[in-house]
Amino acid sequence: MATNHTVTFLRSCALAAAALLFGLAPAHAASASAEGDPMANARIVGEKRCGECHDTEKSLFGHTQHAKVFRENPRNETEKAVCEACHGPGSLHAVDTKDKNKIIGFSKEWGTAIERQNGQCLNCHSGGQRLHWPGSIHATNKLACSDCHNPMARFSANGLMKKAGITETCQTCHQQQRAEFRKKSHMPVPEGKMTCEDCHNPHGSSSKRLLKADSVNELCYTCHMEKRGPFLWEHAPVRENCLNCHYAHGSNADKLLVQTRPFLCSGCHSTTGTMGHAVWGNNTLGNTASAIATTNQMGGALGNLPTKRMTGRSCQECHSAIHGSNSPSGARFQR
Ligand code: HEC
Ligand code: HEC
Ligand code: HEC
Ligand code: HEC
Ligand code: HEC
Ligand code: HEC
Ligand code: HEC
Ligand code: HEC
Ligand code: HEC
Ligand code: HEC
Repeated sequence: MATNHTVTFLRSCALAAAALLFGLAPAHAASASAEGDPMANARIVGEKRCGECHDTEKSLFGHTQHAKVFRENPRNETEKAVCEACHGPGSLHAVDTKDKNKIIGFSKEWGTAIERQNGQCLNCHSGGQRLHWPGSIHATNKLACSDCHNPMARFSANGLMKKAGITETCQTCHQQQRAEFRKKSHMPVPEGKMTCEDCHNPHGSSSKRLLKADSVNELCYTCHMEKRGPFLWEHAPVRENCLNCHYAHGSNADKLLVQTRPFLCSGCHSTTGTMGHAVWGNNTLGNTASAIATTNQMGGALGNLPTKRMTGRSCQECHSAIHGSNSPSGARFQR
């Protein structure tokens, strides 16, 4: 653990140093050193001075990991500055509290530019999990680190989240996803067995949709290893993308399926026999089959009654190993 943190930390230092050396200063640094920056001549005054006016903040901040490290075990001058490690040097603010340009604030009302706010955090937290933050969808949509994190008090058990948990924090903005997880079948996120962060890296990723793996399937395999195979008989759409048949968040059909069965299968396997046997025909059937045809809307639309292959639960009555089969005689996924 300690070694990892150290490595990450050293790497961020190295990156910061390289940025300065090669003139690749990030936006925040450019604005901070720009001519006319009201904070250019400010000095560090120390936590005690801040606490004279911000006593409540000072005491709430005391419950955080930052306070513990910065106060008890600072590793450099920036950390030693405690409050000012994030808010910037405060000597000018302490004597002129009205001018909003004299201290870095993280609230909308205070109005400090987002890039400058994030730059303060990234001084210590670039690289690692945030390697892909620049250019990520959250960064380009101008999210601030403090849209998800509140380092001023301990609201969550871990991670200094703004709400009591990760999922709740995400759902303050992602209402549609919140609704998806309320559907009949869903990943056990509302139950608290997993969070949005098990699948997404909110700081950015090398794949689309902020996924934590290189592809959808690689993501799913991390928890559903048995679906990885290899199988003697592969079902092509499974190998291509799990989302051919499943929603990732929730569905009103069973098992997160994108369609109720058998329509899920007949969406790809034609009912006329070009890719699959004819499952809809004009034969007369027993009550069970008629019931299927009349209780679902698509039966009518197709204008046919199902053959006996549609009786019973579904195609999987016979094709049960739908994710792939290792049986020598499993070419049709029947075992
Ligand atoms: C002399 C009293 C005083 C001192 C000393 C002082 N502040 Fe302030 N600070 C204020 C006042 C007053 C405001 C304005 C509050 C408001 O308008 O909501 C303020 C505002 C702020 C804000 C912006 C709050 C927001 O709405 O986002 C931050 C951040 C802040 N101070 C941090 C500090 C830090 C860090 C220090 C120590 C370097 C410090 N202050 C020292 C009085 C003080
Ligand atoms: C790790 C970075 C960090 C440190 C260290 C830090 N702050 Fe903050 N501070 C923030 C962020 C981020 C916010 C915005 C919180 C939010 O979302 O409301 C904030 C908000 C504030 C505010 C506005 C009021 C509020 O609670 O929203 C004040 C005042 C303030 N900080 C003062 C201080 C003082 C005093 C210290 C030292 C005792 C300190 N801060 C240490 C990051 C920091
Ligand atoms: C001066 C360096 C520094 C700055 C600036 C800084 N941090 Fe940190 N942060 C740390 C250190 C040190 C830790 C302790 C964990 C560790 O040892 O790596 C930490 C821990 C964290 C954690 C994990 C806390 C936990 O309880 O799990 C979060 C989240 C975090 N910081 C977010 C932020 C945000 C957001 C900002 C900007 C508002 C910020 N930090 C600014 C150095 C910094
Ligand atoms: C969209 C929400 C979101 C945004 C924006 C965000 N984070 Fe996070 N961050 C998280 C979540 C979720 C975690 C995981 C917390 C946990 O595991 O308990 C986390 C964890 C962290 C950690 C602790 C784990 C680690 O990587 O060391 C740090 C530090 C951190 N974030 C810094 C930042 C910084 C700096 C920014 C801004 C550049 C930022 N975060 C922006 C959601 C966010
Ligand atoms: C402050 C609001 C806010 C919060 C909090 C937030 N997001 Fe987002 N998120 C956005 C915006 C804005 C977008 C881009 C527009 C869109 O696609 O809705 C976005 C996009 C996304 C995307 C889509 C990426 C893509 O490529 O289309 C994912 C995935 C995502 N967020 C996950 C999360 C997770 C996980 C969390 C919690 C850790 C979170 N968000 C917290 C505002 C937020
Ligand atoms: C089981 C893994 C998993 C969990 C848990 C999860 N997601 Fe997703 N999420 C995905 C996948 C996979 C996609 C789709 C990627 C694609 O379209 O290629 C996705 C897509 C998204 C998108 C892009 C828009 C969309 O719906 O396609 C957003 C936004 C998003 N997720 C937010 C969230 C939020 C917020 C949470 C927590 C409430 C969450 N996700 C939990 C796997 C997950
Ligand atoms: C972080 C671990 C994790 C990841 C990643 C993950 N799952 Fe799951 N999945 C679970 C857990 C836990 C359950 C619930 C199992 C239970 O309740 O018995 C589950 C359940 C399911 C179910 C059954 C739902 C039901 O109603 O019975 C399906 C289908 C599923 N996952 C598909 C996927 C797909 C597709 C992906 C990739 C987009 C994926 N999972 C990624 C952990 C994960
Ligand atoms: C061709 C459609 C299809 C594709 C593609 C597909 N699945 Fe499924 N999956 C199903 C069906 C149908 C069920 C319901 C099985 C049942 O009820 O017996 C199911 C059930 C599941 C379940 C819950 C029951 C179980 O078998 O554990 C998980 C987990 C699951 N799928 C994961 C995945 C993953 C991971 C992928 C991608 C590697 C994937 N599925 C791709 C059709 C598909
Ligand atoms: C997204 C499209 C898609 C869906 C949905 C789908 N399949 Fe397939 N299926 C395919 C493709 C493509 C093949 C490979 C065809 C080939 O190799 O000629 C295949 C092959 C098969 C085979 C073996 C055929 C052969 O010739 O070896 C069976 C059996 C099968 N699927 C049954 C099902 C069942 C049952 C369902 C519903 C649970 C289903 N499929 C859902 C696309 C799909
Ligand atoms: C009563 C058992 C049964 C049911 C129900 C059933 N099948 Fe089949 N299916 C078979 C058998 C046996 C074969 C292999 C024999 C053959 O080649 O005709 C087969 C072959 C297939 C093939 C391979 C192509 C072909 O013509 O050989 C596909 C695709 C297929 N079934 C799809 C489906 C779909 C989609 C459903 C549901 C709509 C379904 N099956 C329902 C027994 C069944």
